[in-house]
Amino acid sequence: MKKRIMVVFGTRPEAIKMAPLVNALKESKHLEPVVVVTAQHREMLDQVLNAFNITPDYDLNVMRAEQTLSHITSQVLKEMESIIQKETPNMVLVHGDTTTTFSAALAAFYQKVSIGHVEAGLRTYNKFAPYPEELNRQLTTRLADLHFAPTLRAKDNLLKEQVDESTIFVTGNTVIDALNTTVDPNYNSKLLSQYKDKRVILLTAHRRENLGEPMIQIFKAMKHIADTHRDVVIVYPVHKNPKIRELAQRYLTHDRIELIEPLDVMDFHNFAAASEIILTDSGGIQEEAPSLNKPVLVLRDVTERPEGVESGVLKIVGTDFEKIVTETNRLLNNREIYDEMTQLKNPYGDGQASHRIVDIISHYYGFILEKPSDFMNS
Ligand code: UD1
Ligand code: UDP
Repeated sequence: MKKRIMVVFGTRPEAIKMAPLVNALKESKHLEPVVVVTAQHREMLDQVLNAFNITPDYDLNVMRAEQTLSHITSQVLKEMESIIQKETPNMVLVHGDTTTTFSAALAAFYQKVSIGHVEAGLRTYNKFAPYPEELNRQLTTRLADLHFAPTLRAKDNLLKEQVDESTIFVTGNTVIDALNTTVDPNYNSKLLSQYKDKRVILLTAHRRENLGEPMIQIFKAMKHIADTHRDVVIVYPVHKNPKIRELAQRYLTHDRIELIEPLDVMDFHNFAAASEIILTDSGGIQEEAPSLNKPVLVLRDVTERPEGVESGVLKIVGTDFEKIVTETNRLLNNREIYDEMTQLKNPYGDGQASHRIVDIISHYYGFILEKPSDFMNS
């Protein structure tokens, strides 16, 4: 009989990174998925479910306008209890570091169900950056039984925290699996054709710890760049968070800054691939950048993704006006500096992470005798 693997996710990035795994589980001879979405995000989650053709078995629909962390935590914990009791899955899989992740893992632990943690071991060791993600992922590590680390560095972090080595597997990041199915060199979108004769800077910014003054600094820097480069257009698909939308509307009025709705993942990946520079505080986009062949300026003070900084594709610029303007100008004005940040191998994955995870779980249940080998790029 197939083992039943409950896959739980709720936000846009988790959905993008879990979708290839859900599809790999569907193809497995030994395992089958039960898909539970918390809908911590509503519209931005639905965009991904549509793009990857995933119909959840359960939808907790927890999102509220301007929800609090305790709302998400308590709702997910409560609802997951009854679903786990009803479905009695063999394992619950959670992803990364959102509040959905931590709360679903806690619910599984209370029911004594095995927990697999996808994208395990990322760390800044700064409790408030990113907030609350750093603690969400550390707490999930304590709850999990199997740890799917995307890179060797992530595995090392777990080893330093005394996690049993036999439970850690280096798999690569499933976001690269997703990217391999979305990016198409012949992709044609209205959005892309609109900016044919412009140099496009793609901006995304949404982190809780950047809300307020840091975000205002970012936006002022963007306006300055737009003012001083007539051939540049800055395109910002604005996150649905009303606090961010209000700030963006207030500080980013400019005829060469376009505030647009969040793009669906196909449009976003292909638009990113066609842009010139990406400025972002996103986690997932930092991992996608090397495959997209684009330099990324990271609008944060610390990153849990040092591999990209070491490989040269990411540069941490923080949220200081001067620093953002200087580094963006360097990329816009100097081809050599630009080229040094592109054409790099992706340290985050080879597109096989989901299949590795399915093989590891199949091995764990004795369906496959040989232990699957690790992702070796890192
Ligand atoms: C969440 C995650 C963060 C992740 C980010 C990805 C937590 C605590 N935070 O942060 O780790 O990087 O998602 O984007 O888990 N909203 C909508 N529609 C949507 C999505 C959001 O209206 O489709 C609005 C709602 O008003 C919601 C607010 O955005 O209350 C904030 O959403 P929330 O999930 O709490 O926080 P994020 O900043 O999105
Ligand atoms: N993304 C998207 N549409 C957008 C902006 C981002 O599909 O308009 C994708 C992006 O390619 C990446 C993921 O969403 O895979 C990142 O999500 P987000 O920045 O919200 O969260 P984080 O990665 O910071 O947790």
